[in-house]
Amino acid sequence: MSRICVVGAGYVGLVTGACLAELGHDVVCLDIDHEKIAALRAGRVPFYEPGLAELLDTMRSRGRIAFSDRYDEAVPSAAFVFITVNTPTGAEGQADLEAVRNAVRDLAAVLSPHAVIVNKSTVPIGTGDLVEYLARRYTSVPFSVVSNPEFLREGSAIADFRSPDRIVLGSRNRAAAEAVLALYEPVRCPVLITDIRTAEMIKYASNAFLATRISFINEIAAICERLGADVTEVARGMGFDHRIGAEFLEAGLGWGGSCFPKDVRALIHMAATSGTHPQLLRAVLEINRDQRLALVQKLHTALGSLEDRTIAVLGLSFKPNTDDLRNSPAIELIDLLYYEGCQVRAYDPVAMPRARPLLPASARLCATPYEAVAGADAVVIATAWQEFRELDLARLRAALRVPVIIDGRNCLDPAATRAAGFVYLGVGRGSGQPLAATLPRAEPREADEPDTAILGRDGWTR
Ligand code: UDX
Repeated sequence: MSRICVVGAGYVGLVTGACLAELGHDVVCLDIDHEKIAALRAGRVPFYEPGLAELLDTMRSRGRIAFSDRYDEAVPSAAFVFITVNTPTGAEGQADLEAVRNAVRDLAAVLSPHAVIVNKSTVPIGTGDLVEYLARRYTSVPFSVVSNPEFLREGSAIADFRSPDRIVLGSRNRAAAEAVLALYEPVRCPVLITDIRTAEMIKYASNAFLATRISFINEIAAICERLGADVTEVARGMGFDHRIGAEFLEAGLGWGGSCFPKDVRALIHMAATSGTHPQLLRAVLEINRDQRLALVQKLHTALGSLEDRTIAVLGLSFKPNTDDLRNSPAIELIDLLYYEGCQVRAYDPVAMPRARPLLPASARLCATPYEAVAGADAVVIATAWQEFRELDLARLRAALRVPVIIDGRNCLDPAATRAAGFVYLGVGRGSGQPLAATLPRAEPREADEPDTAILGRDGWTR
């Protein structure tokens, strides 16, 4: 059992703290946000993560975890001090290290001799050296620095902690790295001990690679759409190849969240400022941005002009099983819809309270998906929540003014949806013939409709 302080009671900090406490350690989660600490002490978790509130509760009742807003209270007795503070995107795409610098300054001043500073925040390559340098300015006691990047996914963070794909540790001091590894006992998985910079780069390269896979399949989806192939089957066929693997090949509205956008941008910035030319990473970003535009284009294809149309958007969080809206493709899409002159009615199973301040005042948040689609000209599925896969299509059809579904996450079965009376457009889901052959021929048109529109304003197929 070790005494551990976790600095930064955000997403990574609370999950790490709760799970280390579960492994038998004594943990104090420290944050300079007094209100957050007061809420945590009262048993309130500031965001939604399946199982976290319950685990924190159990650990608190067993006396394994406590919360503090004072460095001089939480740090001096800790043998390990984890840094899990925010590293947001700075003005030029770089990671902003202000919170890391402040944390190092304040923790170093009260550090106990031989403590290990463990950096879990995603930080630019070389930050481990900076942490060592900065801490040395504020303390004369001996200490070590270990980089221990986290690979937790929101929505399954606790399960990811309990059975990780790997543990990566980077340090100048192998004994310190091994001491951090011992904290994870009895977790079993591949372990890699490297120098600090390599450990830091493993995190960036992993996230950038996953984002690249998604942008890759989204590019393939665009080609599939034109040529009549179905990207979901293409991805399945690719995934059986063990060199490729099946995961992170879901085409759709693109990636968002607190990590991929920030980390890809930061890696581009590091590459550019160190004299290399990150052309692939730039394309990965660009393809991702285009996914939202492509969806708006599909609405145009189905409806013609979007001016004064009402669009129902199902799903607001950046992915299912979280209420996190950071860089959510759904929110970016709604901005584009407003730009086109649409009104939006939206529904999300958990993210609506947090979404309100991010949406235009006239966007209507609805209690159910069926309420959201009432009277709408089209429905867009923007987040792959399980409940959207199980929608009652007849009920949906009855509520919509115009029966158009744009499935931005390929959640629905195209044939069944079409059979239920919808015009269905997914992402990259051709139906065996080139796109041009599947669109109805344009009939004489109303003045404001481009001739690609499938439906007239009255909602009838032309
Ligand atoms: C990611 C990494 O997976 C994790 O290892 C790291 O620690 C933090 O960043 P997270 O941000 O929780 O985790 O989300 P993730 O599940 O990776 O999904 C990221 C985005 O990609 C979401 O917007 C998701 O909808 C999208 N996505 C994912 C796709 O569009 N297609 C896919 O096939 C997979």
